[in-house]
Amino acid sequence: MKCRICKEKAVIKIRRHNLPLCRKHFIERFESETRRVIKRYKMFTRNDKIAVAVSGGKDSLSLLYCLNKLGYNVTGIYINLGIFKENYSANSQEYVIKFKEKFNLPVIIYDIKENQGKGIEDLLKRGRGEKPCSVCGMVKRYLMNRLAIEEGCNVVATGHNLDDEASRLFGNIIYWQEEHIEHQFPVLPEENGLLKKVKPFTFFTEKETSLYAILNGIPYIRDECPYSIGAKTIKYKEILNKLENDSPGTKYRFLKGFYEFKNKVKIENLRSFKGTKNCKKCGMPTTREICTFCMAFENHPFIKSVQNISISEKE
Ligand code: AMP
Ligand code: FES
Ligand code: ZN
Ligand code: ZN
Repeated sequence: MKCRICKEKAVIKIRRHNLPLCRKHFIERFESETRRVIKRYKMFTRNDKIAVAVSGGKDSLSLLYCLNKLGYNVTGIYINLGIFKENYSANSQEYVIKFKEKFNLPVIIYDIKENQGKGIEDLLKRGRGEKPCSVCGMVKRYLMNRLAIEEGCNVVATGHNLDDEASRLFGNIIYWQEEHIEHQFPVLPEENGLLKKVKPFTFFTEKETSLYAILNGIPYIRDECPYSIGAKTIKYKEILNKLENDSPGTKYRFLKGFYEFKNKVKIENLRSFKGTKNCKKCGMPTTREICTFCMAFENHPFIKSVQNISISEKE
């Protein structure tokens, strides 16, 4: 298989375009596509300071690497969630440190057990076989936003890819989760203490982001979180991959068509968060007196620098 552009040996065939590419032309296309999506959805410019939430996986580390290469002002934020099962948090943190040292990029490492006194697994009610994923999602969303503000960033970028987003959409449609469908988009505007959130890799498949990581020598953790095993989203990914195999481009058309349809909806209405209060403990936006994050960690208050924080005060 030869590269369509230069006839050198191809490293991948982008099936939805029937396009074989060599290493050089794959990387070039990947980076120019990233830039195009950032502009198309008005995600950020070189004047913004972007917090890239990194998990130690291929998508988010590639995103940090790629945005830095494209000349954006980036800082990585890694949250050690305190997942001790299969040593998952410790292992993923090791990859983040390897990455940081190899490419000499700024990455903040925040350990919730050290700072809050409890890790994700400690927040579960004992002996009920409960999975931490929903509380983990809440903790990640909260901390990504708060740590980004503390670092003086004005945008949060995550590494969600086409497989993540298409499977999420699929699940939301099957169970007709109107509320979630309403707020799924590659860019969510800044609102009331929540920074703008963006997903620049929303149109790249997992295969493309992992190839980009490999070709650039990015070290990344290959294991998934042990709690994600058997998760419905993984089943949806398998179903979509079957459709994709029969008809390349299905995943892309499914998600892109949805975004185009949504473009008719006003972007200002995309935020799910309608909180108007500020948490009495940490000052972050909430719909209650005390936010869900502070409730979860209630025995370990951490009200250090952030008493009554507001974005305008920080800036
Ligand atoms: P996941 O929910 O694990 O599929 O991750 C989706 C995105 O959330 C990743 O691409 C990262 O941008 C971000 N993320 C996941 N885990 C972490 C973490 N421990 N620390 C910081 N960001 C994370
Ligand atoms: Fe949060 Fe698996 S990463 S529960
Ligand atoms: Zn080529
Ligand atoms: Zn709070």
